[in-house]
Amino acid sequence: MKKTIAVINQKGGVGKTTTSINLACGLALEGKKVLLVDLDPQAHSTIGLGIRPGSYPHAVHDVLINKKNIREVILATEIQNLDLLPSHIRLDRAEQVLTPEMFKESRLDKAIRPLEYDFVVIDCRPTLGTLTVNALYACDFILVPCEMSRYSLDGFADLMETIDTVKNTTDVPNREVIRILLTKYDARKTVSNEWILEQLGDYRNLLFDTKIRQNEALNQAHMAEEPIFMFKPSSSGAEDYLSLTKEFLSLCQ
Ligand SMILES: Nc1ncnc2c1ncn2[C@@H]1O[C@H](COP(=O)(O)OP(=O)(O)O)[C@@H](O)[C@H]1O
Ligand SMILES: [Mg+2]
Repeated sequence: MKKTIAVINQKGGVGKTTTSINLACGLALEGKKVLLVDLDPQAHSTIGLGIRPGSYPHAVHDVLINKKNIREVILATEIQNLDLLPSHIRLDRAEQVLTPEMFKESRLDKAIRPLEYDFVVIDCRPTLGTLTVNALYACDFILVPCEMSRYSLDGFADLMETIDTVKNTTDVPNREVIRILLTKYDARKTVSNEWILEQLGDYRNLLFDTKIRQNEALNQAHMAEEPIFMFKPSSSGAEDYLSLTKEFLSLCQ
């Protein structure tokens, strides 16, 4: 059965896009059929796969508000088994149009439900608005990237509350499907690492064993518009995202 993963955190710059691209690619390399949904008007996941906004006629907003058939919007990527539902800056306006509409939160779910993929990975924008609620509604696994820095846990309670609210109004069980991924991890910063882990309190139980280390190659891969596995397979970033892929797959069993 298809599994849908929402990569969410209302903070920007915590590694949502990096994780979405590289988990989606990691799963595709394991032979799984994967759809990456770019649900951020900034289209960073789309660009990160080397696809230029404007080079395709339709994007995710056409599916959400213009009732365009999703199969006509999905693009194949250069990576075998990995397809993309691209984004465009027009998605920003679409979110405003969508917000007062009826059944607004189930639009994405309805569109992806009939599709035959093993995994759908949704890269969310850094807000808890209608688009992110669509991702929460559609998903059965929530991945929260958490940057290892002083303010990384500000707003964390709001995020968990939003997740609870959305998930309690649907028939999907919550909590056990939430996992927190520590990103930009630097093992040398023992004091601040310990501080952040303490602040996490009970949420520590939700941590992935895998941590994504701070790795410049991940940054460069973003600029080169390639997944880390293609850009620098020997990097610690590739190693960590492979480990995440394997850990995620074992959780799905
Ligand atoms: N583990 C990491 N090590 C180094 N740089 C990273 C790492 N993860 C992400 N980055 C960089 O941090 C920036 C923000 O990451 P991104 O995935 O775009 O975050 P978000 O989607 O949450 O806004 C990007 O420039 C990205 O290349
Ligand atoms: Mg992003």
